[in-house]
Amino acid sequence: MDFYSKIPDLMDEGIIAIDSEGYIKIYNRMAKNIFGINFNEGPSYPEGVIKDGDIVVVADNMLGADDGGMTPEDLKLIGVNPCGVELGYAVVAVGRKGDKTGQGYVKFLKPDQMANELLLKTSVDDIVIESHINFPRRILRIKINDKIYDYEYIWAAGHMVILDGSTKCVKFYQSKGYTSRKEDMKFILMGQPFKGKGRYSKVFETYNKHILELHSDSEVVRKLLNVACGKEDDIKGVESLINGIPVRCSIKAVTDGAERIGAILEIVDITELKAMQIEREEALITLKKLQDKMISEKYKRQAFKAIIGQSPKIKQVIEIAKKAAEANSTVLLLGESGTGKNLFAEAIHKASSRRNGPFIYINCASIPENLLESELFGHEKGSFTGAVSEKKGKFEMANGGTIFLDEINELPVTLQAKILHVLQSKSFTRVGGLKSIDVDIRIIAASNKDLEQLVSQGKFRGDLFYRINVVSITLPPLRERKEDIYLLIENICNKLEDKINKRKKLSHEVYNILYNYEWPGNIRELENVLERAMLMSGDIIQPGDLPEYILRGNNGNIHGKALVDVKDLGPMRDIVEEAEKRALLKALKITKGNGKKAMELLQIGKTNFYEKLKKFGIESSKFRNNSS
Ligand SMILES: Nc1ncnc2c1ncn2[C@@H]1O[C@H](COP(=O)(O)OP(=O)(O)OP(=O)(O)O)[C@@H](O)[C@H]1O
Ligand SMILES: [Mg+2]
Repeated sequence: MDFYSKIPDLMDEGIIAIDSEGYIKIYNRMAKNIFGINFNEGPSYPEGVIKDGDIVVVADNMLGADDGGMTPEDLKLIGVNPCGVELGYAVVAVGRKGDKTGQGYVKFLKPDQMANELLLKTSVDDIVIESHINFPRRILRIKINDKIYDYEYIWAAGHMVILDGSTKCVKFYQSKGYTSRKEDMKFILMGQPFKGKGRYSKVFETYNKHILELHSDSEVVRKLLNVACGKEDDIKGVESLINGIPVRCSIKAVTDGAERIGAILEIVDITELKAMQIEREEALITLKKLQDKMISEKYKRQAFKAIIGQSPKIKQVIEIAKKAAEANSTVLLLGESGTGKNLFAEAIHKASSRRNGPFIYINCASIPENLLESELFGHEKGSFTGAVSEKKGKFEMANGGTIFLDEINELPVTLQAKILHVLQSKSFTRVGGLKSIDVDIRIIAASNKDLEQLVSQGKFRGDLFYRINVVSITLPPLRERKEDIYLLIENICNKLEDKINKRKKLSHEVYNILYNYEWPGNIRELENVLERAMLMSGDIIQPGDLPEYILRGNNGNIHGKALVDVKDLGPMRDIVEEAEKRALLKALKITKGNGKKAMELLQIGKTNFYEKLKKFGIESSKFRNNSS
């Protein structure tokens, strides 16, 4: 070899020079390294071809891409059942060439599941085999006993190791440059001969071969050909993929006077740079996702702040509601009156991505049936008497936001069908209109009646029920989360104090009474009772400031407990007297010595009351000014 031809091999960039017709004149050592044309690293093997009985291990991060165009069916070539595998899936498999019994092993993941890794570990003929894809690090790793065959990919690659069926030695493994070596997975599996590697690697003759014989027809190769024949001018520093390898290339024209006689391609392998760039981009995406999550968490916290409670029951429904808010799904809120359905509906809207859109409320029970349709869907001018101008309905107003259909159980059957249509088609027509209007809305519905029961009674359409029952949240009644009462009282009192601009305290007894009451009207009832008591009381709210029915409790008994608890039997007269005495003492204690209120509680007349006080030696004045 002469002096000049040695020089390109000393350069750090890959150099490929072609003549104006595309025939290679220089293909330096670095170019051969970049494209795997020289392959002297790793274990050696001679040239050969796959045979029936050979053991084949596959790791493919994207079936069909950069593997010669593999299809799921091609897995049958190695006795792997392709059931469930689709193009684009990540696949790890171990099988035997020509196995017709389908005994090969396979594992796969869909593109949206490729978060971490995919691993298949098995043993064949006492050889321990692992096929592993590490998605974050982009490594395809095949392990045969302790020997590791790694393939680092940028975007996609099909990696494969073949063991000789009888000697169990490695007879082929995939490596960088497989495309220029024409050793794509599919072709090798189909029986195309492969070249030797390492000490068996023959120096690949490049001189005077056409560039398209060595390289697939990529954009860069086409440009090189165009510059070489004079169709295009020099190109500087463009990033591209050649044979699946990321490179930065410049193309320079070679001229003889005015004549274009060829072109030189300078290539720098930027695989590592690219991998770093990808990592950086991924880190930025993760950061963005984290930021979004933090922001959405913040909104969720704020949205649900108004909902008070620490009991497991309320915490559980808050969690479900937060998830539903995020998922943008239709929500059905169930629960007794006053349990917070309206409050939850608003919180779900505020916590959702629609928070900046409208929140439209409609109470299906409070609008007369003949007006409800136009309220919901709007009307065109003149569509009925009184429709003097066109009007937008609630569904149209809610576009981009949320519509809250409260008391949906009261929805007339005729309108149930229309609502079902909106839910299914996300469109509707105004009353008297023909044009279908598309809307992007989230629906939240509430009912304080058992909708399922209404369905079985034929009062509510089953199909509509199933449509709105995507996420159903049943709010617990207050009596089932009594432990929240103190928090709720504090919170409600704070709000009321701000309203009336006075600070007030509750006596312990009031707390006890409120705790023991069953609250059929739930939090709304609690709010009403406290508001009334605040207005009536002095600085400290006393039992006497509570409505009588609360003092009486749910069973008509004071505090909802049994009136008399007889522990020991004795003469009937004594038992009755003892009970009377205790009742008087208790009534005076609760009413802080207010005789009139005590009489009301005990429902006895004035004369009778004072007679009994005298009889038992009770002084009502002792119960006054005694603050707890
Ligand atoms: N967990 C809670 N924390 C604080 N306040 C609450 C809570 N739940 C409900 N409330 C308050 O109780 C009152 C009643 O709540 P809301 O109107 O949401 O109940 P509802 O279930 O819609 O009742 P209805 O079935 O009668 O319409 C409201 O003033 C609301 O602010
Ligand atoms: Mg309500």
